[in-house]
Amino acid sequence: MATFLITGANRGIGLELVRQAAAAGHHVLAACRGPGRAKELKALEARDDCDVEVVPMDVSEANSIGTAKTHIGTKPIHVLINNAGIMGDDPQSPLDMNFDVLTKVLAVNTVAPLRVTKAFLPNLEAAKGKVIVISSGMGSFGYEETSKMAYCTSKTAVNRLFHGLASALRPKGVAVGIYSPGWVRTAMGGPGATLSVEESARGLLQQIEQLDLAHSGSFSNYAGRQLNW
Ligand SMILES: NC(=O)c1ccc[n+]([C@@H]2O[C@H](COP(=O)([O-])OP(=O)(O)OC[C@H]3O[C@@H](n4cnc5c(N)ncnc54)[C@H](OP(=O)(O)O)[C@@H]3O)[C@@H](O)[C@H]2O)c1
Repeated sequence: MATFLITGANRGIGLELVRQAAAAGHHVLAACRGPGRAKELKALEARDDCDVEVVPMDVSEANSIGTAKTHIGTKPIHVLINNAGIMGDDPQSPLDMNFDVLTKVLAVNTVAPLRVTKAFLPNLEAAKGKVIVISSGMGSFGYEETSKMAYCTSKTAVNRLFHGLASALRPKGVAVGIYSPGWVRTAMGGPGATLSVEESARGLLQQIEQLDLAHSGSFSNYAGRQLNW
């Protein structure tokens, strides 16, 4: 069975990815920034019938990533899922931008996934593993709505970073997946979204299982549909 490391694991899509990966028999390192508040995740960790270990990690803090790295040590990681993300408050349109929000959103959604991946690269190389970023269709140039530009730009930028990362990691045998989870009923997606967390996570885990070096660096949705950059 594989070892997964999943960020933003305490709620939403991340929590459901933990549930489903653990139910499939995998060992799951479930990273979140507030384990004290992560009741559902702690309950999963306490169960005897699944193998979940909670790891404190704020992805926007280099020191916190370092502490998590020390905690996990040299354990091979087969799948790293960079799921943690924020939408950011308004205003974030091109002509009315809160620059603190822009900076924060880029730090969490763009910089952090690469920083986390770099920290755990030896673990991924040891397993010839896969590194995933949960992106968004809002990162595509085809998405024309401009009211959430900080968020959209952060996802466009992380797509570019992880597309480049795929080229850099191919010789090391580590595949890269860039996935949109669809529009999902979470705190971020809202109650009107079209997908449940169960449907989205199931699809994402299927895509991750099928991912190989030949398809590394491509951008698709939870159902395997190729997306335009
Ligand atoms: N829901 C959708 O429709 C949708 C669509 C497209 C893409 N996505 C992407 O899917 C991913 C998960 O979204 P979601 O819908 O599950 O959102 P969510 O319910 O708002 O959950 C976000 C998760 O990210 C964590 N997080 C935020 N900042 C963090 C930090 N600095 N360090 C560690 N964890 C942090 C949150 O932890 P706290 O509880 O500590 O805040 C929470 O666990 C995100 O990358 C999002 O952009 C979602």
